[in-house]
Amino acid sequence: MTFAGSAAGPDQFPRDGLPEVAFLGRSNVGKSSLLNALCGQKALARVSSQPGRTQLVNFFRVEDSCYFVDLPGYGYAKAPGNVRERWKELVTSYLVGREQLALCLFLVDVRHDPQPGDETLKTYLDHYGLPRLLAATKADKLGRGEVNRRTQALARSVGAGAQGVVAVSAQTGAGVDELWRAIQASLAGGDASPAAH
Ligand code: GTP
Ligand code: MG
Repeated sequence: MTFAGSAAGPDQFPRDGLPEVAFLGRSNVGKSSLLNALCGQKALARVSSQPGRTQLVNFFRVEDSCYFVDLPGYGYAKAPGNVRERWKELVTSYLVGREQLALCLFLVDVRHDPQPGDETLKTYLDHYGLPRLLAATKADKLGRGEVNRRTQALARSVGAGAQGVVAVSAQTGAGVDELWRAIQASLAGGDASPAAH
């Protein structure tokens, strides 16, 4: 995988027509970390020590198969109003009418109930009929039973309508292979549902 560029607006999005997988979720949920874990590279997408840092749409080319698209996170409470407005504008300019957008990876922290921003994103994805997989992140933070219980609860709430739900840890690598297979299956147009467990 290689970094293909940062975009501040639609005129800078790639034009070669490869399918795209968008990483969406709250600020600090682990989007950049998961992207790195999927690609087995430690420091490709920049991981933030402070939330709300990624303010551009970053494109990473996965060989000749697709782009991974790292979007800025929402819900950073301390972000000033103009930053939040700009986020909405930028993310909307990407999500709405992007023909290459093949799959949305919707990330939610396994420890937390969905927040208002997550509900908004779900409504949005439903409205535009965008295909999605749910990833419950930071699974290393809880015991296995609790991860399973919370992942199923998330599947029933914000995960409703998703092709599958996978609990992952960018730190330990747990669930990363399963998520990778689900992404590939979805891109191939097959059944992306990972075994529910
Ligand atoms: P923004 O770009 O600000 O929207 O954040 P992001 O969603 O890209 O999150 P990022 O990957 O930058 O990670 C945020 C913080 O969570 C960092 O301190 C990471 O080290 C930590 N983190 C990410 N994934 C995991 C994980 O699987 N386990 C644990 N324990 N920490 C994680
Ligand atoms: Mg990020």
